[in-house]
Amino acid sequence: MAETLAPINALIFSIFLISISHAARPTPSPSTLKAVNLGGWLVTEGWIKPSLFDAIPNNDLLDGTQVQFRSVAQGMYLCAESGGGTIIVANRTSASGWETFKLWRITETKFQFRVFNGEFIGVGSEGSDLAVAAVSNTPGVSETFEIVRNSSDSGRVRIRAPNGLFLQAKTEASVTADYSENTNWGDDDPSVFSMSIVTAMRGEFQITNGYGTEKATPVLQEHWRSFIVEDDFEFVAQSGLGGVRIPVGWWIASDPTPPRPFVGGSLQALDNAFDWAEKYNLKVIIDLHAAPGSQNGYEHSASRDGSIEWGSTQENIDQTVSVIDFLASRYAQREGLYAIELINEPRGPDVTLESLEKYYTAGYNAVRRYTTEAYVIMSTRLSADEKELLQFASRFQGSVLDIHYYNLFSDVFDNLSPQQNIDFVNNNRSTQLNSLTISNGPLVLIGEWVAEWQVNGATKEEYQRFANAQLEVYNRASFGWAYWTLKNVQQHWSLEWMIKNGYISLM
Ligand SMILES: *[C@@H]1O[C@H](CO)[C@@H](O)[C@H](O)[C@H]1NC(C)=O
Ligand SMILES: *[C@@H]1O[C@H](CO)[C@@H](O)[C@H](O)[C@H]1NC(C)=O
Ligand SMILES: *[C@@H]1O[C@H](CO)[C@@H](O)[C@H](O)[C@H]1NC(C)=O
Repeated sequence: MAETLAPINALIFSIFLISISHAARPTPSPSTLKAVNLGGWLVTEGWIKPSLFDAIPNNDLLDGTQVQFRSVAQGMYLCAESGGGTIIVANRTSASGWETFKLWRITETKFQFRVFNGEFIGVGSEGSDLAVAAVSNTPGVSETFEIVRNSSDSGRVRIRAPNGLFLQAKTEASVTADYSENTNWGDDDPSVFSMSIVTAMRGEFQITNGYGTEKATPVLQEHWRSFIVEDDFEFVAQSGLGGVRIPVGWWIASDPTPPRPFVGGSLQALDNAFDWAEKYNLKVIIDLHAAPGSQNGYEHSASRDGSIEWGSTQENIDQTVSVIDFLASRYAQREGLYAIELINEPRGPDVTLESLEKYYTAGYNAVRRYTTEAYVIMSTRLSADEKELLQFASRFQGSVLDIHYYNLFSDVFDNLSPQQNIDFVNNNRSTQLNSLTISNGPLVLIGEWVAEWQVNGATKEEYQRFANAQLEVYNRASFGWAYWTLKNVQQHWSLEWMIKNGYISLM
């Protein structure tokens, strides 16, 4: 009896110690979290589900679309001289940054044109009333133009100025708003321009402002109701995954009446996600994917035109902290809550390390006001040293660093064979991951990766080997990983498709 008591006492004592240490700090990750992103659900990404944009009139002219105009009469491109701050000229034989205009969509035919330096084109603001210049930073009626497309050739356009007259490239050095309604659309008409689209964006801002908030509301609410459903959570759980990372946008915090053009209702979808996650025993990572002002200029952070304004003022940082505060207060007591990610993919140098660290400190404290259990995830800046936050994040109990590993988006991967891609994962990624794993440091999450690459025509077996190489390396991440994404019209980017078609198995 006495002999058996001692080990039992020791066991009880060590359980006691373990529970004390648990109470003092969040539990260390018991095992690697295998998760999948629910991308393109509560934050729109057009490439994931293009059909969402189908019913928008003029849907090739959404916010952030970059266009160039060549005068057919002069054979010259319109150009914001000096990139902005002065007149518009028509004397460039080729087009680059200064000859490119970013659209702000006002109606389906009316637009404002933002130039390289950030000003907007307007009429009557410099010298002669009819000269066209890019001097305003706050676009209004004088900066709003109509694009009139030739109905048999949509790339042939005329631009009607706010005074009702049309822009013309009368001479190379001056562009004026003084051409009448009449046109033969001929090559001799100085009010006719050949318009080319350089790039386009298809995110939350584009879909909401493209339809207009009223028409966007039923479109997005139907998408939120149907794109991800309870059965998907059951599938995720049955596939050997333990959680989901859910991208959300800052406007969710002012549901049901977010600032225009955003649409209310995504909060209900997130509530549903928690119900389903808890039912199927899945962990939820809430990921603030789109912060106010956009932290990376990409469509997936709901940028209007590619600019990055997040973090530039204290007010903006405070607003973002209050979004985190809202999410933490709403979900802290939910069993499904595993972690809150303070911001996704901030991009340097526009987002400075200083403003990011200031925000992470405040955001971390906001989460801790409601829970000591949930992990708090901090993203490293894109195109910065992966290790820049390592020491900083070490100061916070239960902190996690998020890094994203794609064999894409860099010329490093141009022309790599399947085997070279796999070697890169086995050697370089695993070295990178090791160097992020330090004692008393933050845990590490590979919050996004995908079995897709720049290889054309790879076989199923090559995809399987690529996926397995990544799984093997990323399984060593101390916090875990999340595949990008569960559903996507691009097959390899859909974990559901990859599992159902035998490319990836997690069991
Ligand atoms: C479109 O432009 C062509 C010349 O390129 C012109 O012949 C035609 O009338 C224009 N169509 C309309 C509907 O204005
Ligand atoms: C275009 O016109 C402006 C205004 O006259 C002039 O300052 C500039 O040098 C011209 N640029 C070219 C490439 O001709
Ligand atoms: C990948 O690792 C190899 C071998 O360590 C190294 O020679 C190469 O420079 C690395 N590539 C990149 C892009 O870091």
